[in-house]
Amino acid sequence: MSHSTLKSLTILGCGGFIGSHLLKRILDTTDWHVYGIDIQCSKITELLDHPKFTFVELNVYDNERVREYVKKSDAVVSLVALCNPSLYNTIPLAVIEANYLRPYDLVKMCAEMDKWLIHYSTSEIYGRTIGSFLPEEHRGGDPSQYVIQEDTTPMLLGPIGAQRWTYACAKQLLERTMYAYKFEKGLRYSVVRPFNFIGPRMDFIPGVDGEGVPRVLACFMEALLYRRPLQLVDGGKNQRCFTYIEDAVDATMRILHNPEASTGQAFNVGNPKNEVSMKELAELMIELYKETRPDMSGCEFETRSVSSNDFYGEGYEDSDRRMPDIQKARTLLGWEPKTSLRDALKVTIQWYVDRYGKATACREAS
Ligand code: UGA
Repeated sequence: MSHSTLKSLTILGCGGFIGSHLLKRILDTTDWHVYGIDIQCSKITELLDHPKFTFVELNVYDNERVREYVKKSDAVVSLVALCNPSLYNTIPLAVIEANYLRPYDLVKMCAEMDKWLIHYSTSEIYGRTIGSFLPEEHRGGDPSQYVIQEDTTPMLLGPIGAQRWTYACAKQLLERTMYAYKFEKGLRYSVVRPFNFIGPRMDFIPGVDGEGVPRVLACFMEALLYRRPLQLVDGGKNQRCFTYIEDAVDATMRILHNPEASTGQAFNVGNPKNEVSMKELAELMIELYKETRPDMSGCEFETRSVSSNDFYGEGYEDSDRRMPDIQKARTLLGWEPKTSLRDALKVTIQWYVDRYGKATACREAS
């Protein structure tokens, strides 16, 4: 049941992966007017003419222009981030700027204008698990070593030289800033902490529609499409709980429909049933890719271990495990993720094949 009185909202970063899915759901299921701010719109072309949508082609950091749209809106959803681990130790200053300094202005703006801010943070702010600091033989048995709860779990980042954590630290400081603004100035905000959302339109395939190293799903898709070995960083032992984008959007919709329950709260949005190691993920994706493309069923796809130093460069460290406790979202929002990893991957792999199959075919195995 909706308790929301929203009539209009601004989405910053509406042209990205999450924005494209959230925007579609809002336009399909509500009568809210959406002002969507971004510099790119290739993922939302089919929505551009919707009568309840105004696409504003604008740099999200143009505070003066952004302010005009915030003023007209009841709430602001902030999706802007540099959130790709290959950037954290290679362009750390841009990472700090995009994830802390620039969004700080938006937090301040929302506080001054008394607008509800729904901010996308990250599961990475938790850093490493407590268990990862214990000797191998003592790890894993007790769930308190690895299950992450929003309001009680400590946040454990590595040393300064391990620049992987610049992103987590910037995001964490922004959350602390919002908390402080709530404490001192009454800011109304809600935080989503995403746990590895996957689905159509995620990331890019290098050399086709982007450059650099994307996140693991697109890295493995690139390897499958070009018939190259799937690279397992440090053997692929680390684990993630992958969450299907439609389940994730469902959580955000429940936040938007329930301001009383969600204001002042941070929510883990992840699917604990979908935990998998990167080695298992690679094996499952090979199996499902062959199902999706019967013409590939006779091909051998290999996995190959690569050191994190060779793959990402100096200063990379990893989160070993991210197992969300989602009781808060269950209790306050009535949210439950429904999509299994297998089903999420099937849809996503099919989308990548449809989107990139032809573009990559002529360069396969080169
Ligand atoms: C990233 C971001 O840092 C988070 O902000 C974000 O919340 C999260 O993705 C997300 O998608 O929710 P991470 O999970 O480390 O965090 O991102 P990936 O690049 O997808 O890496 C996942 C794991 O796969 C890591 O252990 C990585 O080392 C490994 N990996 C990556 C491989 O084994 N092979 C590859 O080709 C690429």
